[in-house]
Amino acid sequence: MTYQVGYFVGSLSSTSINRTLSQALIHHAPDDLEFTEIPIRDLPLYSPDFDADYPAEGTALKEAIASTDAVLFVTPEYNRSIPGALKNAIDWASRPWGQNSFDHLPAAVIGASPSGIGTAVAQQSLRAVLAFCNARQMTAPEAYINFNPEVYAEDGTVSDPELEQILTAYMQEFRDHIERVLTVLPRG
Ligand code: FNR
Repeated sequence: MTYQVGYFVGSLSSTSINRTLSQALIHHAPDDLEFTEIPIRDLPLYSPDFDADYPAEGTALKEAIASTDAVLFVTPEYNRSIPGALKNAIDWASRPWGQNSFDHLPAAVIGASPSGIGTAVAQQSLRAVLAFCNARQMTAPEAYINFNPEVYAEDGTVSDPELEQILTAYMQEFRDHIERVLTVLPRG
């Protein structure tokens, strides 16, 4: 059994440290997880006016989530919350009313910051949003990554053994979380 994981990078930056983190997470994940990025860059700003007739970008987002078994959010912290682009994508996916793409979906959140806080406040903010969206969140382990650019290689490997252990354990737990949730709540 292979699980399809859609991952969101909350940053639109061309030099995103969270994109770097996402590649390291994928590199350290168990072999039975397959990853596809769910892009958020081209979404218009959400309005309920779109509910009657979603534009192609909104439909593509919802179809991408529908084709996954789980979602992983790798996000920066912006002003002690999540970036607007990521919140906008979540708002799109949560609507139209009654067609919430996150309902019962296994999910995990993680993020990197150059500061010691390691996106802790943003992750709490994101968890509140995902709770309302009825996603089945992994609650432990948490991981607040204080980003050191020197330890990340282009191929996703990391040269810091402690970080390697954290990323590996996090992804193994996420895999087990997905299996547990889907055992009770299989995807339709
Ligand atoms: C930040 N940054 C930031 N860092 C943090 O730890 N807590 C915060 O609240 C904020 N707020 C914030 C707001 C805005 C608008 C920007 C642009 C930046 C710094 C941030 O962690 C840093 O720029 C990271 O590199 C952003 O992640 P990406 O885009 O490189 O993945």
